[in-house]
Amino acid sequence: MSLNKFSKTLTQEITNPAAKAMLYGIGLTSEDMQKAQIGIASTGYEGNPCNMHLNGLSVHVKKGIQENGMVGLIFHTIGVSDGMTNGNDGMSYSLPSRDIIADSIENVVGAQWYDGVIAVVGCDKNMPGAMMALARLNRPGMLVYGGTIKSGLYKGEKLDIVSAFEALGKKFAGNISDEDYEGVIRNSIPGPGACGGMYTANTMASSMEAMGLVLPNSSTYPATHEGKKEECLAIGAAMKVLLEKNICPRDIMTRHAFENAMTVVMALGGSTNAVLHYLAIAHSAGIKFTLKDIQDISDRTPLLADLKPSGKYYMEDVLAIGGMPAILKYLWQEGFLHGECLTVTGKTMAENLADAPDLNFETQKIIYPVATPIKATGHLQILYGNLATEGAVAKITGKEGERFEGTAKVCEREEEVIEFISKGEIKPGHVVVIRNEGPKGGPGMPEMLKPTSALMGAGLGNSVAMITDGRFSGGTHGFVVGHVTPEAQEGGNIGLVKDGDKITIDAVDNQIILHVSDEELAERRKLWKPLVSEHTSGVLRKYIKNVSSASLGCVTDL
Ligand code: FES
Repeated sequence: MSLNKFSKTLTQEITNPAAKAMLYGIGLTSEDMQKAQIGIASTGYEGNPCNMHLNGLSVHVKKGIQENGMVGLIFHTIGVSDGMTNGNDGMSYSLPSRDIIADSIENVVGAQWYDGVIAVVGCDKNMPGAMMALARLNRPGMLVYGGTIKSGLYKGEKLDIVSAFEALGKKFAGNISDEDYEGVIRNSIPGPGACGGMYTANTMASSMEAMGLVLPNSSTYPATHEGKKEECLAIGAAMKVLLEKNICPRDIMTRHAFENAMTVVMALGGSTNAVLHYLAIAHSAGIKFTLKDIQDISDRTPLLADLKPSGKYYMEDVLAIGGMPAILKYLWQEGFLHGECLTVTGKTMAENLADAPDLNFETQKIIYPVATPIKATGHLQILYGNLATEGAVAKITGKEGERFEGTAKVCEREEEVIEFISKGEIKPGHVVVIRNEGPKGGPGMPEMLKPTSALMGAGLGNSVAMITDGRFSGGTHGFVVGHVTPEAQEGGNIGLVKDGDKITIDAVDNQIILHVSDEELAERRKLWKPLVSEHTSGVLRKYIKNVSSASLGCVTDL
């Protein structure tokens, strides 16, 4: 079978002479005109550690592609750093970047007639955006994860990006000197790689390995590890197999593969953002996958990993215990994963895992045995009630308890939380309600890492809960409920809460209840008005107009 199924439109059809002339112009030879063309989409850019090395990795990918008789053509798409946008208005652009990445990869590969696509990605939105593009295009392809960062070190303590956020709360509480505050910030990020705990980037990386969309160990190798370069070079041979067998993303992204991905998110204590992203990726792949499916997976999957943010270890530590293949093998052997799912090696997951190392429960302490889990069911729980009639996502590892009853402290915007903490107005027993931060209201459904980190740093992490129609970072821990739908801007009851209202959050019965009568809510609704957006043109205006509810994954192409 011809491997240049798409690109031959430009290289062989007589009606496209200008396209062929341009391909000669970039240095291709007559021999190259017979070869498959592979688009290599890099989200590399210099301005952030998670992406700063990706253009270099793309060069290795290209080398592997060329060595295997194909033409590799690097192109670029955007990236937005959540570490840098959290807690400021830049965050409004973060979630929209996922869809721009998906659109731009789809756009380039579609327009340039590439026969396959490889996405080299490193940060939270890069991965779901690229997965959405692969699913939409359905041409042979895979992803390469840029790899996790090494931990930082200051005065003998390991650090990461969350250490820098939490330093602010310590400063407010007077628990850190100015020198140590600066010391933490200066030493938290020692070089390239994605934020180092089981935050959103590592959540998406490990779950896309479970989905079979990357070569084995892609989520294990840290950014600066030699194995990362070897992985990039090995992509060429794998890509050739995909083309020869015509294995396309939708052959891999089956319903069972989505279950595998979400199971790994639950077992490893991954980010709430995975809920949003896998709903959106499933939409791109034409797979029916809903909040209810995610709750079902949570109900049957124990939380096993002692990884940050709620646990002790970093992603870099996973390499020493056998890497992600060892974890997947254990989950598969215990009956939690579907082994028959096809992967980008051209083999099934079970075949890939046959030679993977076994976890040693005598020596390693990162993964708990299924018999004695950290929590018997998943830490991500879908809650419903009059505060979230279309659903909300709670992240409850059990360390915070599974039920919280308190009184509302309303913040109309994220910024107010920091103001209230600094004035000492947030007290134990409060349910901090942060509203007007949904996909349309935020806009862009910003992450609330700054408030949750500040609460932790101020010593309030165990005594207050937080709910929002915005999102939480993968770095967030504590008793938190995000993705409240409908959002305030769409008339959801979260917009009607007043200071002092009683709220119950119950992660056992999956409820989130505002103890205010329907009659009183109806009265309050008469006085309620949606906010007038300041975004009257441009990308955020487009986003506000197109974005769907968080309960549907915030997709923009419904
Ligand atoms: Fe890129 Fe955290 S900011 S992974």
